[in-house]
Amino acid sequence: MRVLLIGPPGSGKGTQAARIKDKVGIPHISSGDMLREAVAKDTPLGQKAHDYMSQGRLVPDDLVIEIILVRISQPDASTGFLLDGFPRTPPQAAALKKALTPHGFNIDHVIKIEVPDSVIIGRTTGRRIDPVTNKIYHSEFNPPPPEIAARVIQREDDEEVTLRKRLAKYHKDTQQVTDYYEQRGLLHIVNGVGKLEEVQQRIFSVIGLS
Ligand code: AP5
Ligand code: MG
Repeated sequence: MRVLLIGPPGSGKGTQAARIKDKVGIPHISSGDMLREAVAKDTPLGQKAHDYMSQGRLVPDDLVIEIILVRISQPDASTGFLLDGFPRTPPQAAALKKALTPHGFNIDHVIKIEVPDSVIIGRTTGRRIDPVTNKIYHSEFNPPPPEIAARVIQREDDEEVTLRKRLAKYHKDTQQVTDYYEQRGLLHIVNGVGKLEEVQQRIFSVIGLS
C-alpha cells in the first residue's frame, strides 16, 4: 500500500502515520524528520536545509526529491510506504510519479487531513518530541510517560512566528498538489479535529483498515 499524508503543520500527519505504520507494517517516511535528522547530524544536506526550515520556508525541490527517491527505493519500501509531508509542490508530485511508474507502482490513497488554523496553534505549542525515538507527544493531549518527560524537546520551527509562516506557505502551495491528486481520483479529505483515536478511525476507514 502506498499512501500520502497531506495536511497543515500540526494536523497530525506524523501522529497518524505512526499508527498506520504499526497496523500495516510499511515504513513511515517523513521528509521533515529526514531533514531534521540531517540538520542534527550537520550533514551537507542539513547545512543547506537548516536556514529554510528555521525560517518556515520550503527546502528546494531538488534536495528533497533526491532524499525521498533514494529512501523509497530501499528494500523495506518495495511493497509500500507512507509518505508524510511529501510531495508538497507540483515538481515533487511529478518526480514521485516518474519514479514509481517504470516499476508499475501507483499511489493508492492521498489523505488530506484538515484542521483549522485556530486549532493548529494549540497543537504545535504543546508538541513535544522524544529525541531518542522521535515519538510525538503533546503536553496536554498526549503527554509523554514520566520516564521520558525529562528528555522531550520542542521543535525549533514551532515558535509561533515561524509556525504562522509555515501555515501561510501551506495554504499558498497545497491547492495545486491536492488538485493534481483529486483529478486522478485519489484524494480523500479527512476531518482532523477530534481525539487522536477518532481521527485514526476516520483515516483507517478511508484506506480500508479496521
Ligand atoms: P514537516 O516536519 O513535514 O512539518 P509540517 O508539515 O509543518 O507538519 P508537522 O510535523 O509540524 O505536523 P504534523 O502534521 O506531523 O503533526 P503531529 O502529528 O506532529 O516539515 C518541516 C519543515 O521541513 C518544512 O517547514 C520545510 O522547511 C521542510 N520540509 C519538509 N518536507 C518538505 C518538502 N516536501 N518540501 C520542502 N520542504 C520540506 O501533531 C502535532 C501535535 O498535535 C503533536 O503534539 C500531537 O501530539 C498533537 N496531536 C495530533 N493529533 C491530535 C489530535 N487529534 N488531537 C489533539 N492533539 C493532536
Ligand atoms: Mg510531522
